[in-house]
Amino acid sequence: MIFEMLIFILNIFFMKATRIIAVFLFVVIFQLACKKSPVAPPAPNPCSGPVILPVVNKTATISGQSLGTITVISPVGSGYTYSIGVAFQASTNFFNLAAGNYTVTAKDANACTSNVAVTINGYGPKFFAVRTIVNGYCGPCHLNGAISGGKNFDADVDVVNSWDRIKIRAVDGNPSFMPQNGQLTAPDKQKIVDWVNAGHRITD
Ligand code: HEC
Repeated sequence: MIFEMLIFILNIFFMKATRIIAVFLFVVIFQLACKKSPVAPPAPNPCSGPVILPVVNKTATISGQSLGTITVISPVGSGYTYSIGVAFQASTNFFNLAAGNYTVTAKDANACTSNVAVTINGYGPKFFAVRTIVNGYCGPCHLNGAISGGKNFDADVDVVNSWDRIKIRAVDGNPSFMPQNGQLTAPDKQKIVDWVNAGHRITD
């Protein structure tokens, strides 16, 4: 009886001992595995703020000339600079642009940058004149999403597709003149006539 109890106690003792050794080995192996070689802390990132996507206005050019413009309307304020290439400038305006694709980058005081793709369209000279007249005299009623009399002229294709109605309303004044608040000058009316006679395309 005593002998059996002794065996029993010894068994428990050895079971515990095995477990303790196992745990000990596990801890040692784990620590060895996790020992890291020292690394340099990462350089602090000067760009911390949120990146604000630029919003721009643009105007087209006559194909082969450099009359296009890009104007950044957001983000603006102290510390911001802008680029369409290598150099950054404080002015929000870019002038004398040829037709083509541009990347407008805005940079804030913390050197955070964001950019947007902008295409400067190239037009024929007669359409360029008409597009300029429409931009100057047909808003707000027909521009920036506004649709008066079923006509919106934001897209060039909408100006092209409405060539006949534009001439009838802005040149002939039938049944009444457009713009509503005053007629175009005679030279501006002539530019519409010239474009219509040339074939009323974007390339004319
Ligand atoms: C102050 C607001 C205003 C301005 C500016 C304006 N329009 Fe309109 N336009 C309207 C309204 C309102 C109608 C609908 C009533 C009507 O047809 O007379 C309309 C209708 C039209 C239509 C469609 C009707 C039709 O006869 O086919 C055309 C085309 C048009 N305008 C061309 C022009 C052009 C081109 C300009 C710029 C040179 C211009 N409008 C400037 C307010 C304006």
